[in-house]
Amino acid sequence: MSISPQHTIRVSAPGKLMLLGEHAVVYRRPCLATAMDARLHLTLSLAEPDDGRFTIFAPDVGVDGSQGRIAEAFAGGHALAPGTRFIESALAVFYERTGIAHELTITTHSDFPSTHGLGSSSATVAAMLYGLSRLFDLNLDPDELFSLGLDAVRRVQQLGSGFDLATAIYGGTLFYDNARPRQILPLNTPTLPLVVAYSGIKADTPTIVQQVAQRLESWPDTINGIFDVMAHMVKDARCALEDGDWARLGELMDIQHGLLHALGVDTQATARLVFAARAAGAYGAKLSGAGGGDCVIALAPEDRRDAIEAALVEAGGEIIRIAPHAPGVRVEDSESRP
Ligand code: PMV
Repeated sequence: MSISPQHTIRVSAPGKLMLLGEHAVVYRRPCLATAMDARLHLTLSLAEPDDGRFTIFAPDVGVDGSQGRIAEAFAGGHALAPGTRFIESALAVFYERTGIAHELTITTHSDFPSTHGLGSSSATVAAMLYGLSRLFDLNLDPDELFSLGLDAVRRVQQLGSGFDLATAIYGGTLFYDNARPRQILPLNTPTLPLVVAYSGIKADTPTIVQQVAQRLESWPDTINGIFDVMAHMVKDARCALEDGDWARLGELMDIQHGLLHALGVDTQATARLVFAARAAGAYGAKLSGAGGGDCVIALAPEDRRDAIEAALVEAGGEIIRIAPHAPGVRVEDSESRP
């Protein structure tokens, strides 16, 4: 393959928030998600001499110059450090797809803490694969990036619907249907009036997804029934989103939160925030993502936004100022060799 590599490329990918359909989407139902304007930034530089090694600097997760060989990245599912797993699995997938193993330095930094459940892992994978493809002048379209990315994510964690990766790649607000064949539809909803609050509790998504799997095993008809209701609501919510009908969307968010409580993933901290937002005048509020902590989202009438934020803080939340509907993975800038 003939390649004309850039010398350095800087890319970024957005974090995400789940709007509706979490957990059901793991079981081949649809969900709605939006990309956040808090981004994961990644710099890829070709290094010399070319001994086929990679060096990673990821200060946000305590990685300071970890080194390995590209051809052996994530071999046997082993990474140099917990903080390099997704970078290495993306490298491994890219190497297998292209055979390219040029000496590389990889540096990341994030606008948001990895503890908030805003999708730093999927943003990392999206940024790595997109950055590598652009660094080496390969034209990978979003669908191919998505399937390579899913492979990279699955090498690290088996469970997961892939909605977060789709959001990091495509950006905007998505209807993501995890049925076969998978459907990823960008929606035109730039003005979504979201308030986001962190509950202060870091949730472990794989553990919670596993707990729901156990409940599904114990009560297959009941839990599948809940997933079917969630799927139905996602379709209604898509219409409400596209119409900008925040009152209806808020009501659906309230119902979804109730169903998430039924799945056993609500906590006192998230429930407190949800009730506080509603009492302060939100159209609706729910936990967002796997549950067990992480973030709560509320839909806020413009004249109630300040009151809702104050109520969330009063109830123990930390307001996260991020806007939805952000652009997907993109090049920030690049430099060629002199
Ligand atoms: O906890 P988060 O924000 O990563 O979201 C998890 C959403 C689930 O539906 C529970 C899992 C998934 O992969 O879709």
